[in-house]
Amino acid sequence: MADLAQHDARGRGEQARKSSAPSPDPCIMVIFGAGGDLTKRLVMPALYNLANTGLVPECLAIIGADIADRDTKAWTKSLHDMLEEFVKDPNSEEQLSKVDEDVWSSLADRMTYVQGDFTDDGFYKSLKSTIESAEKKHGTSGNRLFYLAVADRFFGTIIEKLGKAGLVEEDDDGPWRRVVIEKPFGHDLDSAKALNEQVHAVLEERQIYRIDHFLGKETVQNIMAFRFANGIFEPIWNRHWVDHVQITVAETVGVEQRGKFYEPTGALRDMVPNHLFQLLAMTAMEPPSGFRPEAIRDKKFELFSAIETIDPDHAVRGQYDAGKVAGEKARAYRKEKDVAEDSATETYVALRLAIDNWRWAGVPFFLRTGKHMPERLTEIAVRFRRAPLNTFHGTPLDSMPANWLVLRIQPEEGISLQFEVKRPGQVVALEPVKMDFRYADWFAPEPNVGYETLLYDVMIGDQTLFQRADMVEETWRAVGDVLDAWKSAPDDFPNYVSGSAGPEAADRLIGEGAPWRVWREVALPEDKDRPSKEAP
Ligand code: BG6
Repeated sequence: MADLAQHDARGRGEQARKSSAPSPDPCIMVIFGAGGDLTKRLVMPALYNLANTGLVPECLAIIGADIADRDTKAWTKSLHDMLEEFVKDPNSEEQLSKVDEDVWSSLADRMTYVQGDFTDDGFYKSLKSTIESAEKKHGTSGNRLFYLAVADRFFGTIIEKLGKAGLVEEDDDGPWRRVVIEKPFGHDLDSAKALNEQVHAVLEERQIYRIDHFLGKETVQNIMAFRFANGIFEPIWNRHWVDHVQITVAETVGVEQRGKFYEPTGALRDMVPNHLFQLLAMTAMEPPSGFRPEAIRDKKFELFSAIETIDPDHAVRGQYDAGKVAGEKARAYRKEKDVAEDSATETYVALRLAIDNWRWAGVPFFLRTGKHMPERLTEIAVRFRRAPLNTFHGTPLDSMPANWLVLRIQPEEGISLQFEVKRPGQVVALEPVKMDFRYADWFAPEPNVGYETLLYDVMIGDQTLFQRADMVEETWRAVGDVLDAWKSAPDDFPNYVSGSAGPEAADRLIGEGAPWRVWREVALPEDKDRPSKEAP
């Protein structure tokens, strides 16, 4: 029975997706930063996966722009090589068994490379003529998608120059012109405001797609479906029933080759106002009045503006020392490439934040993220209040266990609910157990690097999963006081061993005034098949 049901569910899911996904308009896609890592690892593989499922426009042209002097053939070859590498790599997110050469050629035949300096006006003249001839050749109807896969210092300049060259003008009934901007969108409130102003001087908000790749993750999108398509959770999703919420994004990787970027950035800027806040918004926002992009974005904005500016006393920072991650020796952050020997940059952050609205008043949200942690694990864990009365003799009220609802985002995608049962036997004793839903049991895995939905949405003009200007500013406002306080160097760095779950101060942060609140273990579900007894 279970097998049949599962089989049916799979069939239904696939059919629904294929029959309901509209084909995008013809368009030309211009990628700034065509030779960069982002293009090779994510944008192109995602485009290939979309082509594989028939979800790129029939009339499509792709222009790659970058500073390096190479020709179209060399560019397309480097992209193809990367795809081949992904296919062979068992750890890559691209779950394909081989590159389908017909699909690849259907994309490669539409690609052109242009070399140039993004800060030079002359470059935009040659870009314009390349765009116009590709438009004629491929019949792309004048619709243009500009993808800024470049360092953030170029965002403002490129948009300004695209505007000056007349490449992004849009009328109400004419072809569309859209610009995709990667993170980081500013590095504090003032810089985010300044960038928004610069961008708005050229583009309307409807033309701007600020990407946060966490929103491309299937399980993140599922949070809204889980909350709002089921009648049973919403009534208990509030301060009457929820004790606290923990959002964890733990990574095993260190800073790797990204020292130059990471040193002035740190874990807070790199992960919190963007990725962790997106998880928070999905978890805590009010139900939208419908699934229209603006209805959803309005609710997220409302949520962000209800976050109280975080008190620096409710923030803990950490930096990894040497240690072992997944059995391998790991070096200290200060010994990484392009990192200062006395670096004050945090690689771990834990925060306690409050949402000042009717639903969440008094419910603390604890957010943490760090590098060189024991496992790669992203989860949202909602801990419910304990039962009001101890009906079971011999179990003191204080040690009454808790119910947890855990939304597992990666890598073991699923949802589990932990509750208590009576252990079999003559003695009445309680034992925590779990009801577990695993995506992999119900749906066939699909090749997905996380950018497919986002790219597709830009092509069909759906801004639901993209950040609006006011949302970005609110998120920077919320972390502003902590950023200011952390301008002064800490005196205890490094303060956690690589492979551990972070500094001790984070344990004090969560347990302050409420000793039953402890961080969940950073461990994959296999390791905690039997939920552990923990503080009540
Ligand atoms: C990026 C950060 O935005 O997200 C990285 O810059 C981080 O530091 C990465 O490692 C995490 O994304 P994912 O999809 O690997 O969880």
